[in-house]
Amino acid sequence: MVGAAAAGETANNDAAAAALINTKCGGCHEPGPDGGLARISAVRKSPEGWNLTLRRMQQWHHVVLSDAEQAALVKHFADTQGLAPEETAPFRAVLERRPGNVEHADDPEVATYCARCHSYARVGLQRRNAAEWLKLVHTHVGQFPTLEYQASSRDREWWHIATTELPDRLGRKWPLVTASWTAWQGHASPDLAGSWRVVGHRPGKGDYNGTLVVDRTDVDRYTVHHRLVMADGSALDGDGDSIVYTGYEWRGAATLGGLPVREVFEVSADGSQLRGRWFASDAVTGGDLTAVRGGPAILAVQPPYLKTGQTARLTIVGSGLSGEVDLGPGVQVQTIEQTSAESVTVLAVAGATAATGGHDVAVGAARLAGGLVVYDKVGSVRVEPGYDVARVGDNGGPIALVPAQFEAVAYLNGPEGKQGEVRIGVLPASWSIAGYDADSKQAEDAKFGGQIDQNGLFTPGGAGPNPARGGANNAANLSVTAVVTDGAVPLQGSAHLIVTLQRWNDAPVR
Ligand code: HEC
Ligand code: HEC
Repeated sequence: MVGAAAAGETANNDAAAAALINTKCGGCHEPGPDGGLARISAVRKSPEGWNLTLRRMQQWHHVVLSDAEQAALVKHFADTQGLAPEETAPFRAVLERRPGNVEHADDPEVATYCARCHSYARVGLQRRNAAEWLKLVHTHVGQFPTLEYQASSRDREWWHIATTELPDRLGRKWPLVTASWTAWQGHASPDLAGSWRVVGHRPGKGDYNGTLVVDRTDVDRYTVHHRLVMADGSALDGDGDSIVYTGYEWRGAATLGGLPVREVFEVSADGSQLRGRWFASDAVTGGDLTAVRGGPAILAVQPPYLKTGQTARLTIVGSGLSGEVDLGPGVQVQTIEQTSAESVTVLAVAGATAATGGHDVAVGAARLAGGLVVYDKVGSVRVEPGYDVARVGDNGGPIALVPAQFEAVAYLNGPEGKQGEVRIGVLPASWSIAGYDADSKQAEDAKFGGQIDQNGLFTPGGAGPNPARGGANNAANLSVTAVVTDGAVPLQGSAHLIVTLQRWNDAPVR
């Protein structure tokens, strides 16, 4: 999984890993039929999946690994027995720890058996044959003898099905050998050193853009300088380190604007694009990120919308930009305020004849399809995420609270007034919470559950029994409402928010 120049270095790392596996694992895992160690060579996983397994080897089976050995093994296994990009594609949101992610299992039968305690993604981010899936079922029942009750599975012949049909089904769905992994193994891990042009959005705070300066320190290892600026001009600077697993799984640790964050990005196969999310320890505070090298390319228009009849300042962010600015038919560029290879700031107006909907944006040869949305009036407002979970906690205590961040997203009505056809973007709103149903209103959930600020940030109440609530805790079932005023008519959207207890055990793949 490396370029030719680094091949020698990797051979050494592989030899070191082989020796480590021999001493640390060989005592229990005997050589299997395929020449590798039994169980170990029969599975493929994400870096997080390997991390979880190695932690279990330590906690349950008393394997002793230093942090450095753990890290070296995760790297080795993720590279040699990892997952291809296609295999992780349906599960990026879980790897990126996106708040409010509601999984839609493509096999509801598997989800019934296997996604009632943890995510469906935890299962889908592994590959093994039926016999190995069966062993995993056995491990589960050994580890959690009450599983059948706990997973509300007494309505069927759980044990029979879980040890016959289900492993077969999983082995067909997610087998060890796949065409995409076989092909991906020939892929050389790209050298990511260089200067990257970045755009992103930070829910509750706005858009940002800037530069990542990436230096290579070793095979698949980098130091990163973030030079990012929020739309309001505030800096989001900081430095970090990153490691790339399996030729495309960028995992970084950085300090951005003073906040320690982790990064989960996917590197495109040709090494020209990074895409993903960074987040703080609550996994909620964070932002999306897209980065490109080279150009010419347009990454985004910030803000990405323009109302007909209005003049607005728009920044076209990209790399290698030069040439004439085109915002599509009916949109005039009145003034070019600033222009460089990296951004062009213009004052633009959408005339009465400008078609509503997505406009292709161009600067010279660089083009972004649908990069600017022209709207005459907001058709509807959705609160995103539409469903979320916040957790009570005690900042400074053992488990910090987990907030929830909402945004009011405006949509344009499509032809014949069809709702939600085109996303306009995030608009300012006024925010409120209320009990979700009669019971939660009766229990005054809105009073005890927490508070929402005017940036859509919900902060839950403290942990533990609340004397003011007769000793009950601050759990709540809430509806969150945003009101956006566009013209004379206020439009509103709402989301469902559960405020619940702390997550005591936060595994690398939830
Ligand atoms: C002290 C004995 C012992 C040692 C040493 C040990 N393991 Fe295990 N391992 C087990 C047992 C028992 C199981 C089956 C139960 C389980 O999965 O926890 C297992 C299962 C596994 C599995 C299959 C889990 C799954 O379902 O995906 C993998 C992979 C694995 N071990 C990797 C390793 C690696 C890598 C090492 C060396 C760093 C190692 N083990 C060292 C006892 C051990
Ligand atoms: C009763 C709750 C529960 C149910 C039901 C359940 N799991 Fe798990 N699963 C867990 C827990 C807890 C862990 C973490 C175990 C550990 O590492 O200590 C886990 C871990 C895993 C892992 C990661 C193991 C590793 O070493 O990589 C996979 C994969 C997995 N489960 C798949 C499944 C499948 C497949 C099913 C359905 C047959 C299933 N789970 C059903 C609770 C459950």
